[in-house]
Amino acid sequence: MIYITRRERFNAAHRLFRPDFTDEQNMGVFGKCSNPNWHGHNYELFITVKGNIDETTGFLVNLKKLSKIIRQQVISKLDHKNINIEVDFMQGKLASTENLAVGIWNELKHHVAELGAELHRVKVIESENNYVEYFGT
Ligand code: NI
Repeated sequence: MIYITRRERFNAAHRLFRPDFTDEQNMGVFGKCSNPNWHGHNYELFITVKGNIDETTGFLVNLKKLSKIIRQQVISKLDHKNINIEVDFMQGKLASTENLAVGIWNELKHHVAELGAELHRVKVIESENNYVEYFGT
């Protein structure tokens, strides 16, 4: 079993809030990320897949194909977008980094399998100090 990771980047706007909370309650729970006028992050995404080395190519997967899948299924939906409003797989969810990682996992899992590998980890870095990792469970 071998692992390989592809990095992609996107920037997006969001707001962490619950509509059933007042602005004051939202600020108490979510802090500055609850600003009613939105704010953005420069996200970094690390997608790790696992599997066996193809003896013909010496590769686990073709990284160009993996990158294309990530960009088509995820980056194109997120980059320069408002996560709360415009991203189909985040509809009805709080726009947290945790939910984003799970959403990205669900968007990619099946497509990675089609490449002959298995999705292992989705790592979403929201800021210098904060990142989330999801392993599918
Ligand atoms: Ni934020």
